[in-house]
Amino acid sequence: MEITITEKKEKGKRPEDSSLGFGTTFTDHMFNMDYSLEKGWHNPRIEPFQNISLSPASMVLHYGQEIFEGLKAYKNPDGDVQLFRPKENFKRFNRSAKGMCIPEIDEAFALEALKKLITLEKDWIPETLGTSLYIRPTIIATDPFLGVRASHTYRYFVILSPVGAYYSEGFNPIKIWISTERVRAVRGGVGEYKTGGNYAASLFASEVAKKEGYAQVLWLDAVERKYVEEVGAMNIFFVINNELITPELNGSILSGVTRNSVLHLGKKWNMKVSERKISVDELIAAYNNGTLQEMFGAGTAAVISPVGEIRYGDTIMKIGNGKPGDITTKFYKAITDIQYGKAPDTENWIEKVL
Ligand code: COI
Repeated sequence: MEITITEKKEKGKRPEDSSLGFGTTFTDHMFNMDYSLEKGWHNPRIEPFQNISLSPASMVLHYGQEIFEGLKAYKNPDGDVQLFRPKENFKRFNRSAKGMCIPEIDEAFALEALKKLITLEKDWIPETLGTSLYIRPTIIATDPFLGVRASHTYRYFVILSPVGAYYSEGFNPIKIWISTERVRAVRGGVGEYKTGGNYAASLFASEVAKKEGYAQVLWLDAVERKYVEEVGAMNIFFVINNELITPELNGSILSGVTRNSVLHLGKKWNMKVSERKISVDELIAAYNNGTLQEMFGAGTAAVISPVGEIRYGDTIMKIGNGKPGDITTKFYKAITDIQYGKAPDTENWIEKVL
């Protein structure tokens, strides 16, 4: 398929790197493509970033049939532009598509289109360590129909946003709050798909946590409310007695690309690495006997985010000395060095754009 390009006449200006937060500024152009039963995916085009005109009856607005991804482009020290494991994101995008009854896209074509879009927008990529160009591929259901069924028409779009750190804390430890009242997702549901409803489901507890001074909610499993699952915006890791532990993928946890990268590096470094169930009771016991050494989140937006405090009911567990732990820092450095091209791509994780 031929991608048509319509360039914006008056180009915008990228904000200073130092002023970048997360997801507030968007680049000049976006990628769009449509789907219909008759034509399949068609009309791929790069156009000026613009509002989408939708019928108020569009199915996405009523029943939430949508999926998205998050990945990043980085500038390396030579000024080259590179992506971190983008094929993993498009694979997961199609897994989410299947799970949400959305037609899959051609992964190779999606990557080629993304590279074209990034090439056009290369001046929007920030350069400082900790900043990057965040990429948000999304598919929405567009049938104007109020019956509940899978839509017959869709829009795929990709928008780009120059970003800094996801948390205002930057690489300083954040505080997270274990929800005992609410759950995010249940096995057999859609928790492992990257679909908006999972994030909508997280809002109520997140607001409560925020009021208490906690940046994020750590979710427990929805069946027994006993085992730790994920943080919503990132997967979670613990170091207990020198064992690197993350909850096993069980159908209600998102299979994070950064999560997978941490597990890979941990094994390569000969750490004891476990994907297994980890209960709050085990966490509290480890805290009480002094073996809970470190805790961190891993995600595309969050990168590696140290956790300095967790709260479960009235139990408050403080981890470390207010600074990121050594193991957390080692993962942060190894992963960001590869992402920013400051270290050789030993794991074959980098895809060059230009
Ligand atoms: C990402 O890490 O890219 C995500 O999609 C998490 C997001 C909710 C900020």
